[in-house]
Amino acid sequence: MSVLNGKNVLLGVSGGIAAYKTASLVRLLIKAGAHVQVVMTPASLDFVTPLTLSTLSKNPVYSTFYNEEEANATWNNHVELALWADYMLIAPATANTLSKMASGTCDNLLMATYLSAKCPVYFAPAMDLDMYIHPTTKINFDKLQSFGNTIIPAESGELASGLSGEGRMAEPENIIQFIEKDLESKLPLKGIKVLITAGPTYEAIDPVRFIGNHSSGKMGFDIATAAANLGAEVVLVSGPTHLQMKHNLVHLIRVTSADEMYEVCHQHYESSDVAIAAAAVADYKPKNIATQKIKKTETTFTIELEKNKDILLSLGQLKKHQFLIGFALETENEIDNAKIKIEKKNLDLIVLNSLNDKGAGFGKPTNKVTFIDKDFNIFENPLKSKELVAEDIVNLIVKKYAN
Ligand code: PMT
Repeated sequence: MSVLNGKNVLLGVSGGIAAYKTASLVRLLIKAGAHVQVVMTPASLDFVTPLTLSTLSKNPVYSTFYNEEEANATWNNHVELALWADYMLIAPATANTLSKMASGTCDNLLMATYLSAKCPVYFAPAMDLDMYIHPTTKINFDKLQSFGNTIIPAESGELASGLSGEGRMAEPENIIQFIEKDLESKLPLKGIKVLITAGPTYEAIDPVRFIGNHSSGKMGFDIATAAANLGAEVVLVSGPTHLQMKHNLVHLIRVTSADEMYEVCHQHYESSDVAIAAAAVADYKPKNIATQKIKKTETTFTIELEKNKDILLSLGQLKKHQFLIGFALETENEIDNAKIKIEKKNLDLIVLNSLNDKGAGFGKPTNKVTFIDKDFNIFENPLKSKELVAEDIVNLIVKKYAN
């Protein structure tokens, strides 16, 4: 999944021949999952039509401060556009537009929007080779970068003048790649490895029957996605579930039983910085697994169970540098039981969900959790979607690594 997925990208187009490539640029941004709005300078309208960019972005395209055609002219609010944007990209950025950006000249809607923007701004210069190496252009590049803007360097090749050299706007694919790489390198969990367990475990009774539970895996999958969205490299060890994972930073390993989950977790724990146990691991398993389907000949039937290994307990015992987060699913004396688990399993944090809270626990899209840290500080949360609970958990990890 691209880091641009779900992000608002404001594309500013200025008047150079490379403006024709913005049609591809918009398509690629949309393909990456971004929401796109376009602001054009008056000069750029000669090179590409607003209709093209509007069709591709599925949004109106703005180039004037107000809509002249309408009987009661309405204002195109540059401040609103700028605040909407998570990222602004000015491509092509002509020498003229770069000069205005550097000096704060505000004579068109794009400049007014740029000056109002609080988000990261990328600019992709496009001009002839002598203009590109002119001292004024170089000073403007330096100035714009000193303001915190990021340059996407021009490429070399044939130019509109017929000359060949540096100055061509970077190809749309390269612009997208550049931005994605730059954003990924700045994600707060970049370089952090997170091990997560999710879902139920199935403990075989015979070849067709098992002991299981109602965990859907959603809580663990949502934590994996939230951590990967912030740049973490995630190993997600999941018991049987129908959920799929498409994030390229999440390595999903499917297991069936608690013993398998234990093995895989131990293979990855040493190299992990954080481990989160969201799985509902079966506490017991049949002592003997019948090799053939058990016949229903008896009126009553007893299965002898033995304790499964406690995966989280074993991770707590081996803990060195890892930040270890457990879950507690309780039905009574919730806080006290959770505190006992923190100490017994050597946890840094426990996420307590109680089956007494409506909308919390198994199978549901929501959860109501209480965080308890190892010093027994308690943070209660309202009922939220599991996606938001996952973000809360991951933000606690971000805070830890920010210090
Ligand atoms: O999957 P969903 O439908 O989205 O539901 C989410 C959930 C309710 C399963 C999840 O939020 C949750 O609470 N997971 C932990 C459930 C549980 O087994 O709690 P516990 O109190 O029995 O276990 C305490 C901790 O020890 C848990 O982190 C558990 O993963 C871990 N454990 C338990 C037993 C065992 N043999 N090995 C373990 O690692």
